[in-house]
Amino acid sequence: MREIALHILDIVQNSLVAQAQNIWITILEDTPKDQLVVTIRDDGKGMDKETVRKVADPFYTTRTTRRVGLGLPLLQANTLACGGDLKIDSVLGKGTTIEATFGLKHIDRPPLGDMAATLVSFLSGSPDVDFFYCHQRDQNSFRLSTVEIKNNLAGLAVNHPEVLAWLQDFIREKEAKL
Ligand SMILES: Nc1ncnc2c1ncn2[C@@H]1O[C@H](COP(=O)(O)OP(=O)(O)OP(=O)(O)O)[C@@H](O)[C@H]1O
Ligand SMILES: [Mg+2]
Repeated sequence: MREIALHILDIVQNSLVAQAQNIWITILEDTPKDQLVVTIRDDGKGMDKETVRKVADPFYTTRTTRRVGLGLPLLQANTLACGGDLKIDSVLGKGTTIEATFGLKHIDRPPLGDMAATLVSFLSGSPDVDFFYCHQRDQNSFRLSTVEIKNNLAGLAVNHPEVLAWLQDFIREKEAKL
C-alpha cells in the first residue's frame, strides 16, 4: 500500500517540472464527512483541456524518456479504491490544482506517511520555490509557509543542513500533536 506522502512527492514533482514558483499543499481530515482530501495547487505552466483529459490515462505523458506517466493514474486508482476520486483543474499559463479525496476510514486508505521528511525534501531540493502547507484534522490545524520561514532565517539559507534538521523536528512535533 502506497503512503499518501509518496503521492504528494510525485504530484509536487509535476508542479516543479511545470516551473511553479509557489505550491500550496493542503491535507484536510474530516471525521464527520469521513473524508481525507489532499489538494496540491501550483502556479506553474498549466495544461490545456486536451492534456487534462488525457492525464488520467496511464499511456499519456509528455516525458520523452519513458512512455507511461504514472503519477496521476496511480493516485487516481488509489483514491477510487478508497471510495474517493481525483479532480484535475488546470489553466494553461496559470497553474494546476489536483484534488485527491480518500474515504478517511476506508480499510484500503493508505497511511499519510512522513510529511515532515517530505516537506523537508522539497525545501532541500527547491529552496527558491515557496511552499504553503496546511494540515487540518477536524478542529486542529498546522500551517507552514516558507515565506515566513525565510523571513525569520536572518540570511541563513532555507536548505542549510541545520535549518532542514530543525524544520524536520519542528514539523514532526506539530504533526504529532494534531
Ligand atoms: N502540475 C502540473 N502542471 C503542468 N502539467 C502537469 C502537471 N501535472 C501533470 N502534468 C502533465 O501531465 C502529465 C502526466 O503526469 P504524471 O505525473 O501522471 O506522469 P509523468 O509526470 O509524465 O511521469 P511520472 O510521474 O510517472 O514520472 C505530465 O507529463 C505533464 O505533462
Ligand atoms: Mg509525474
